[in-house]
Amino acid sequence: MKINFKITVFLLLFMVSAIGCEKKEEVEEVEEQVNEESLTLKSAFADDFFIGSAVNDNHINGKDTLALQLIGKEFNTLTPENIMKWMNIHPEENTFNYDMSDQYVALGEKNNMHIVGHTLVWHSQLAPYINTISDSATMADNLKSHINTIVGKYKGRIHSWDVVNEALNEDGTLRESIFLKVMGNDYINYAFQLAALADPAAELNYNDYNLWKPEKRAGVVQLVKDLQAKGTKIDGVGMQAHWSLEGPSIEDIENSILAYSDLGVKVMFTELDVTVLPNPWDLNGAAVEQNYDKFEGDPTMNPYPNTLPDSIQNKLAKRYEDIFNLFLKHKDKISRVTFWGVHDGQSWLNDWPIKGRTNHPLLFDRKLNPKKAYQQIIGLKKQN
Ligand code: G3I
Repeated sequence: MKINFKITVFLLLFMVSAIGCEKKEEVEEVEEQVNEESLTLKSAFADDFFIGSAVNDNHINGKDTLALQLIGKEFNTLTPENIMKWMNIHPEENTFNYDMSDQYVALGEKNNMHIVGHTLVWHSQLAPYINTISDSATMADNLKSHINTIVGKYKGRIHSWDVVNEALNEDGTLRESIFLKVMGNDYINYAFQLAALADPAAELNYNDYNLWKPEKRAGVVQLVKDLQAKGTKIDGVGMQAHWSLEGPSIEDIENSILAYSDLGVKVMFTELDVTVLPNPWDLNGAAVEQNYDKFEGDPTMNPYPNTLPDSIQNKLAKRYEDIFNLFLKHKDKISRVTFWGVHDGQSWLNDWPIKGRTNHPLLFDRKLNPKKAYQQIIGLKKQN
């Protein structure tokens, strides 16, 4: 009897603890689900790198309220897509337009974000008066006025500057920009020195596209080494990352991450997007310099004008998964990943290289819904 009693008590205790365990597991499962569902890009990658987006006029002036909500929820760093380019912020020698840039910085501050300035010295979207300068001293004075004034104005508020943008040719030699023609090689060093003087605490970066290419990579390595040899401050290399479903290869990107990080500078992916559309040079191997107007309205160049078929959606998700797997592998070297636009409807790739197409290169679709690529990237963090 005594033994039977003991067995009964033991069995009861066992059942209670089993039910308890099941409950605990259930609670843990629900907790995990809630955590997973509440993950956003910025919370998922909080321990890895800043994650952000380029913003346009309608984000900055507050008109696009839906996109603004998404920006605040998903991102912790911003880059201005166009409003801080020379032609917009400093259109004439003695005219500075701070209306949009003030609103831009206020938007970043309101959301407690890492705020990027794009871009101080670039051959494109320049104010016309710069193209009329033909002597070195005048060009130096103008660089000084531009950089001192703008970096000085936002000292301590813009945290990171693209100081020089796209100064290299595809073979790694220096591009024949108006700055190079008039001032020679030293304009790059001069620009970095001016920026460092104007805000010693700001992060100063060189930014360019196709930096996965071995020849261009060698050019960047030389450029950074030259600055370092002169004792000039350079903190990072921004790889723009305008990529496609097919390329560049993960290996080429990785080799550049390693090469830049070996120089002791941070690596950033500053303008990430992945085109899903055919481009003219895929068709005929033609040089990029050709005029693409003749392809406007050609349906073969715009195969997904309504929705993106599942097969391509899946390819895009896989491509982003591969890219982010690489970023996570090198998170100790990468400080920021910024998408070039908030959602597909706002991407510059709808109008370049052929106007009026429907591209789908980002993580959010035209209705601002997260795409499979978004889930896939967040999924990498859930696995961890
Ligand atoms: O603001 C005018 C508007 O008034 C006019 O009605 C309209 C007519 O086309 O043009 C508007 O300006 C356009 C501007 O974007 C703002 O939307 C320009 O034509 C257009 O050329 C300009 O394109 C920008 C491009 O830089 C200029 O080179 C893209 O939005 C911007 O995404 C792109 O960004 C660059 C980065 O700064 C550097 N890296 C490459 C990247 C992609 O080209």
